[in-house]
Amino acid sequence: MKIELEKNRLEEIDCDALVIPVFKAETVQEGFLQKLDQLTNGVVGSAIEVGEIKGKLSEVAYIHLQQTVKASRLILVGVGSKKDLSANTLGQVAATAARFAAKKKISRLSLIARCEDWPESLEKSSAICSIVESVLTGIYDLEKYKNKKEDIFNLKTFSIALDGQIDEASATKSIERATITAEATNFTRDLCVEPGSTLTPKEFAKRVAEMSASVGLTYEVLDEEQMQELGMGALLAVSRGSDEPAQLMVLRHNGKGGNNPVALVGKGITFDSGGLCIKPREGMWEMKMDMSGGATVAGTMLAIAKLKPEIDVIGIIPASENLPSGKSYKPGDVLKASSGKTIEVIDTDAEGRLILADAIHYAVGQNPACIIDLATLTGACVVALGTLRAALMGSDQQLIDEIEAASLKAGEKLWQMPLDDEYSEMIKSDIADIKNLGSKGAGSITAGAFLKEFVADKPWAHLDIAGTAWLEENKPYMAKGPTGYGVKTLVEFLLSRASQN
Ligand code: BES
Ligand code: MN
Ligand code: ZN
Repeated sequence: MKIELEKNRLEEIDCDALVIPVFKAETVQEGFLQKLDQLTNGVVGSAIEVGEIKGKLSEVAYIHLQQTVKASRLILVGVGSKKDLSANTLGQVAATAARFAAKKKISRLSLIARCEDWPESLEKSSAICSIVESVLTGIYDLEKYKNKKEDIFNLKTFSIALDGQIDEASATKSIERATITAEATNFTRDLCVEPGSTLTPKEFAKRVAEMSASVGLTYEVLDEEQMQELGMGALLAVSRGSDEPAQLMVLRHNGKGGNNPVALVGKGITFDSGGLCIKPREGMWEMKMDMSGGATVAGTMLAIAKLKPEIDVIGIIPASENLPSGKSYKPGDVLKASSGKTIEVIDTDAEGRLILADAIHYAVGQNPACIIDLATLTGACVVALGTLRAALMGSDQQLIDEIEAASLKAGEKLWQMPLDDEYSEMIKSDIADIKNLGSKGAGSITAGAFLKEFVADKPWAHLDIAGTAWLEENKPYMAKGPTGYGVKTLVEFLLSRASQN
């Protein structure tokens, strides 16, 4: 699909449908809607009059036009109140229209952005980025394994009419950047949706290697023998119950050269059955997405390779299965991680923190400026925050603030959790240095406290994306399934860091 800037006047735009944002409590007695109503022989006014659309966010009214303006249809989409207008809501409106249009088999859309009604505070480039990202992630489909492809969305063009309110060169730049982040987000989603038996650690590494080669990232993968040499007893223990060998992927973007890199670490459990502490059958299938953190790191590296910011970034993805077998690691086992710390295994289903322990220690060895890890780490995170926000915690408040600011700009919600030293008491083991399960309560935080044991003195932040990586229900602006959560935030974080250097 092509996204472009629309230069024609509304009545001259050559497309199948015009997308019109409608604010809450808006009438056709004044402003833009009055003009549109006049141009379309009063159809907009009558739609509003009969209550067809009230301007509530995501509401849609679909209108066929009779030889008034050049376009033959209108898609009116509610935006909510004018004063609350944000880049995020504009994105939702655009994506809602795109998904609606695709279902109607409409292939050429034009969004009348109504920039003259945007509040001063709304940053125009963020708004355009959000519109483009949301459209491109909104029309993402899950049809790969279906024989009947008739429901596939078939949008061809999506143009944005800015009424000359925004400098064309800067709008074009925003479109380019947003296309890159959206495609990277969809790359991440493609990985997450793959079945566990398809996307094994080896296949995961193969796809990441291919992606790296296609965009010029430096790529390296450690096999189990090399992990053994590095003493990665925690990652290897998790992998032991599986016939598929573990992989540790390392991707590098040298944007500045010779500087301390930002290290991104992502959990890559390609299927989490729970191991010997096996999960109940219900919902186990969803654990094919337990490599979402790793996929987000891969997607971020893809975007960064294309955007080429002047910053060094290293992506580290430990990949493994977690399965029960005669070779599985057992509750009660004591493991030795590559940092030298000993870990008592209380629950083989708390495997994410184990593979991350060795991956984070590997990151520490790269002399990083900071470490950010992402993981579908705990069910407790879903209990606390649901699917709306990810949990953020870490050892360095400045880094946390920076990530929070990036997430706000990216429109990916998160919430900081506390990580007081006292929580570390809850993972003390009777026979080893630490155990992989906290005493009762604070499940997401004790998982964070566990990871903190491996970050040495590096500024570190952890994002638990257990709830946000997967959408359970279709939204008007987004299909259910993998979300690619985190790519946009990390890209924003890295670009803003690069611009400060
Ligand atoms: N991958 C799961 C966490 C998860 C749960 C991700 C729901 C996405 C949705 C993780 O490995 C796990 O099993 N965590 C356990 C930890 C417990 C044994 C301490 C959990 O949350 O139940
Ligand atoms: Mn688990
Ligand atoms: Zn897991």
